[in-house]
Amino acid sequence: MPFHRRVPWLPLFLLAVAGCQPDAARGGAESAFLEAGGAFPSEWTFAADPRPVTATEGMVATTDEYATRVGIDILAAGGNAVDAAVATGLALAVVNPEAGNLGGGGFMMIRLADGTVYAQDHREKAPLAATRDMYLDAGGTVTDRSVVGHLAAGVPGSVHGLWEAHRRFGSLPWAEVVQPAIDLAEGFEVTVRLVSTLEAAQNGIRGFEASAAVFLPGDQVPAVGDTFFQPDLAAVLTRLRDQGPDDFYRGETAALIAAEMERGGGIITLEDLDRYTSLWREPASFDYRGYTVHSMPPPSSGGLTMAAIANIVERWDLGTMGWNTPGTIHVMAESFRRAYADRNEYLADPDFVELPVEQFLSDDYADSRAAAISLERATPSAEVAPGIDAFLDESHTTHYSVVDAGGNAVAVTTSVNSWYGGKVVVDGAGFFLNNTMDDFAAKPGTPNQFGLVQGERNAVGPEKRMLSAMSPTIVEDPDGNLFLITGTPGGATIITTVLQSIFNVIDHGMNVVQAVHAPRVHHQHLPDLVFYEYRGLPATTVQALEALGHTVRERDPGPPDAYFAGGMSGDVQLIMVMPDGTYEGWSDPRRGGLALGR
Ligand code: DON
Repeated sequence: MPFHRRVPWLPLFLLAVAGCQPDAARGGAESAFLEAGGAFPSEWTFAADPRPVTATEGMVATTDEYATRVGIDILAAGGNAVDAAVATGLALAVVNPEAGNLGGGGFMMIRLADGTVYAQDHREKAPLAATRDMYLDAGGTVTDRSVVGHLAAGVPGSVHGLWEAHRRFGSLPWAEVVQPAIDLAEGFEVTVRLVSTLEAAQNGIRGFEASAAVFLPGDQVPAVGDTFFQPDLAAVLTRLRDQGPDDFYRGETAALIAAEMERGGGIITLEDLDRYTSLWREPASFDYRGYTVHSMPPPSSGGLTMAAIANIVERWDLGTMGWNTPGTIHVMAESFRRAYADRNEYLADPDFVELPVEQFLSDDYADSRAAAISLERATPSAEVAPGIDAFLDESHTTHYSVVDAGGNAVAVTTSVNSWYGGKVVVDGAGFFLNNTMDDFAAKPGTPNQFGLVQGERNAVGPEKRMLSAMSPTIVEDPDGNLFLITGTPGGATIITTVLQSIFNVIDHGMNVVQAVHAPRVHHQHLPDLVFYEYRGLPATTVQALEALGHTVRERDPGPPDAYFAGGMSGDVQLIMVMPDGTYEGWSDPRRGGLALGR
């Protein structure tokens, strides 16, 4: 399947958007947002008028064209949404190795056509030998060992989770859903995307011989159009096809991981791998203006933090206040600020610490938080909780959304945390290990790589799952029917980005294209800043927010990149069920993904 879809750097991006996704044509979009005279800022990168991708029999939206096609092929072969999601996830591990993974973890939300909802937790775990202060030097300062190298890796969960989801809900034989990933690992044509991410990460990758040997053959980033062969990964996937997860957690692949750990001074052992299991959790579900939102419960902070924010925001009529007006952004930022303060302090692995779950979901909590919001003045975060300043957002996770002809829906967010994780490839196995240990508070009260200042409850501990922001989400309409499937990468910004995709539809009447294209804002309590995307707010809005007392910061677009839009946050994959039961979907152009239907 040869294709090279270059998404040019701004401003060529504007011209390219309509061509990003087949079926997309300019000028045909209809939505309550446009009918009411809604418009994006004139400087903004993405247009409001491409037509969504439409379908009747199913849809797959991912960040990568190969992966989307794998999912669609599985649906066409009679697979259900879970089959397609599992196959897509394994394909992403091959073609999108900066984020797709066997060596990381994630979360999967499933809503079956009968309305039952499931939350699958395949988050990484800290190894048995992990200790609270393992990332501090002798002087008590945080080192980079939670970010780079062997110690940064948690025990991978993706393989167990994908297998378990398929075991429980899949309809095609396991071998059939694994095979497309094997085929891709046996050679696929290098895309601009792979080149771009490898160029960005090559210095880190060079630090590890086995990593460079696979991903920088001849010490070079592969060229677009080269065939990229991953024989070791193909062998791992073949054993996965034939032996299930036993090979990964107890067999030859487990031995390769343990050997890599010994060689590089890591601490994941055969016992850690043997003990790993993914878990089914009770979904975090809440009401937003009559719609029901289902998302991930802890150890993801996503569902509960979204619930807290939504319950506060609901006190104001955002639709009437208008999309991205100073008033609406102010209410959102004040709500984000308060909910993130509580997220950062209270949430962690529920198997290790007691969590105030009811409080996050309760009206009383929202009442008291909302009552403290002034419409005239931003509350400094220092008055909500103690403060610190640091923020960094890079997008290295990935999300995919799937729906089948029967109405089964799956939302998955998966990650190795940073791009290419800790940059360590397991020698002989050809996949990167995560650096998700950095999602713990290496030193409570000190910011991690996303600038999140987290508390004691999320300190490192053996066999503990680190707190996540990943928020795969499924929304039902007020009649209880499937309505939206959404999710995004973006570290700390995941929660606010997913919520804005939902607010854009429910409050502002946007269609899927507009809801994805619309510029986003973010606040995470600390640092005390309202972030907005590059060229995402008009100067008048920024000034109005500043007059309310907000410190407002435009994201830096950074150097031109051949593939990724700079200064942007998120990579939303959004599918909507229309009143007539058909599907409309859109893949975020910020990273050049693809939604396809059938
Ligand atoms: O679980 C989390 O919240 C992070 N490991 C997600 C990382 C991510 O989204 C990377 N992209 N910014």
